Amino acid sequence: MSDIFFCEDVSFVDLAQIYGTPLYVYSQTELAHAQRKYADAFAVLNPLLCYAVKANGNLSVLRHFAQLGCGFDIVSGGELARVLVAGGDAGKTIFSGVGKTEAEIERALNAGVLCFNVESLPELDRINAVAERLGKSAPISLRINPDVDAKTHPYISTGLKANKFGIAYADAEVAYQHANSLPYLQIVGIDCHIGSQLTDLSPFIEALDRLLLLADKLAEAGIVLQHIDLGGGVGIVYHNETVPDLHRYAAEVAQRLADRRLKLILEPGRSLVGDAGVLLTRIEYIKHGEEKNFIIVDAAMNDLMRPALYDAYHVIEPVVHKNIAPITADVVGPICESSDFLGKDRVLAAEAGDLLLIRSAGAYAAGMASNYNTRCRAAEVLVNGSQHRLIRQRESIEQLLSDEQRYLSNND
Ligand code: LLP
Repeated sequence: MSDIFFCEDVSFVDLAQIYGTPLYVYSQTELAHAQRKYADAFAVLNPLLCYAVKANGNLSVLRHFAQLGCGFDIVSGGELARVLVAGGDAGKTIFSGVGKTEAEIERALNAGVLCFNVESLPELDRINAVAERLGKSAPISLRINPDVDAKTHPYISTGLKANKFGIAYADAEVAYQHANSLPYLQIVGIDCHIGSQLTDLSPFIEALDRLLLLADKLAEAGIVLQHIDLGGGVGIVYHNETVPDLHRYAAEVAQRLADRRLKLILEPGRSLVGDAGVLLTRIEYIKHGEEKNFIIVDAAMNDLMRPALYDAYHVIEPVVHKNIAPITADVVGPICESSDFLGKDRVLAAEAGDLLLIRSAGAYAAGMASNYNTRCRAAEVLVNGSQHRLIRQRESIEQLLSDEQRYLSNND
């Protein structure tokens, strides 16, 4: 084992020196590898992979997936703009989300998205009205809530009756009939998304079976679908989880879709980018408290909020292996909140000034960053072999203040 960790052929020590910390570092090879795993496993079904932009919306990451032929799953007008600027194909883009505004629907229709994943009857009416105004026909799919337990963290579980997402399974046929009666809508598909970070395959298959049952009933009623969209992808290993095998998943899906003319769409996010990224941070202080030790680093919950929000576990390890006595400590940031931790009770052989790697930080990490405590968002770097380049500049304090500074009034 190397004494110093590398991202591809570049050492994290060099990256920290060149770009500073905290720093998000992504491996292009890992991104491509993750996409290929899906493409290979599902090859017989030739699915459309719509990368879920929310997992990591950096324009260079999006361009990378666009160049690999991926489509996109978006949930806002902002994400649509990202896809278009990155060179993504609107015709391969699915618009999901429970609260689409009229302006967002209009932009998506004008861009020519592949489909709206619709989550309620009022949304159907709204899309129909906007399409009529624009003289267009809107392709729609209904997001059905199959009421299956995804067995994941309650905050990222979305397919239960108690969740705000999707159209209740029992109401689905009526909702499709309603959609069918609206002249500016074109029914193209059915979709679901039952949650994220799924570590068990069975909820995916259960949801698929329920959707297919519905598709059959709809066909009997004369509503024929072109595609089925199974939502997000499989979970990743953060700690010691086992994750579903993609080949098994694909085999189960292929067996069920064999006699049907349904194009398969998948919307993976986390599993395409999660393993490809790390957050690189430097230790500012080591503090020995009364009950605990604290490793205070220059990254914080504003950079990576998953531990604070979901009690999520990310492996943390020193970039350079040192032969010093390890300490047990909470790894925390400088933010004035007790929830500002990145890891608890970690055993680390590290001292002030050392670099730490926070693993599995390619997904729902930089994209969920905020400016809390007036902290500038971290820079992001993409590594490819021995090449590395900035893909997002570190925010500056001037940048942060400017939107308010120009409105300062002398009369206040
Ligand atoms: N499609 C839809 C409609 C979604 O809502 C999501 C994720 C995905 C696809 C992608 O799912 P994935 O393949 O990444 O599991 N911030 C949380 C995760 C929230 C996921 C929200 N929806 C976290 O940090 O764990």
